[in-house]
Amino acid sequence: MSGSVRHLYVHMPFCAHRCGYCDFVTVVGREGLHGRYVDALLAELELEREVLAQPPETVFLGGGTPTFTEVDELRRLLEALPSASEVTVEANPETVTAELARFLREAGVTRVSLGAQTFRADLLRVLERQAGPDDVRRAFYHLRDASFDNISLDLLHGIPGQSTSDLALDIEEALALAPEHLSYYELEAKPGTRFTHAHGAELTRQAEAMEGYFELVIERLTDAGYRWYETANFCLAADQRDLRAQHNLAYWLGRDYLGLGIGAVSTFGGERRRNTPRLHAYLAALEGGGSPSREIEVLDERVRADERLMLGLRLDTGLSFADAGESLDDAALERLEQLGLATRRVGEDGPETLVLTPRGRRLGGAVTVELLA
Ligand SMILES: C[S@@+](CC[C@H](N)C(=O)[O-])C[C@H]1O[C@@H](n2cnc3c(N)ncnc32)[C@H](O)[C@@H]1O
Ligand code: SF4
Repeated sequence: MSGSVRHLYVHMPFCAHRCGYCDFVTVVGREGLHGRYVDALLAELELEREVLAQPPETVFLGGGTPTFTEVDELRRLLEALPSASEVTVEANPETVTAELARFLREAGVTRVSLGAQTFRADLLRVLERQAGPDDVRRAFYHLRDASFDNISLDLLHGIPGQSTSDLALDIEEALALAPEHLSYYELEAKPGTRFTHAHGAELTRQAEAMEGYFELVIERLTDAGYRWYETANFCLAADQRDLRAQHNLAYWLGRDYLGLGIGAVSTFGGERRRNTPRLHAYLAALEGGGSPSREIEVLDERVRADERLMLGLRLDTGLSFADAGESLDDAALERLEQLGLATRRVGEDGPETLVLTPRGRRLGGAVTVELLA
């Protein structure tokens, strides 16, 4: 039986080392457990398979460091996952050899998201990354040599010690590689972490500079021909292909998705559920033939409409008034239209949509919150 969920996320938590700024669900080392983890993922897939459309549209292997997984186990996983028109794997530069790049391509991966972060060796050290700038470039070329024609780079601004000119140089380094896609995130320093303790005053200075950094990123990337299609995401707009990240686009459009693995989130059937982040509890549950323990949140129509509004307004295409539903405050919209922050766009035969102007999108969350009824 084929279900209706068209997007599959698979979490690969293993990393060689934990970067100080990261608070994703990761597990350092544990090479001995990679095989058991892949078995558990495949068991979870079997339990959930009927909710998944066949074939799904997108598969995303995120981490952690999927490319740190032992290669035979990664092969077994990729062979067992359903094929899809977009299959993305996240990769850390130091793990990408010529062989690994070829293997990913042969295994049906269509898109690689490479965690570059910055091209400055000193800033990579501040982040406690394992790769140097040359590893980032080398990994990129290996992927190109393996004929990947959809490569994304993850970059950060607001790194302790980063100056505006460092950022400007990073942008040029990234553009020199001509990736199809770029994600430019603000470094989020979580209160109470070791990283935040170590860089406290400097993080405050960076937070004050963030608006200017964001402006610089948008200006330079759009000048270079990239489409600023989501708050932190850019894609080449030069050819006939739609190079937006189709999997992430599904999240921003409020579509349902299935997540497998520790800490993975799923949204379908009017619920959001989050798997346990504990590796041993996850393995034990699946090895015993059961489902992992989960936190469940019921999503009523109002919650979903609020989320569609918050996420849809991050996109340059905005969202239809029908999707915003009761969540939209009409009086606030009028005020924001007068301020030149939001606008209505009438499609030729499509529905009327609500979009933020470029200035509104730069202000982001603050404008969106105003619009919520
Ligand atoms: C969780 S990682 C997984 C992929 C891979 N391990 C890597 O590091 O590139 C995905 C992205 O999240 C970013 N990330 C992790 N912690 C972050 C934070 N505190 N603020 C902003 N981005 C963060 C990483 O830099 C990375 O580019
Ligand atoms: S390699 Fe990626 S997932 Fe692992 S700790 Fe670093 S940022 Fe987090």
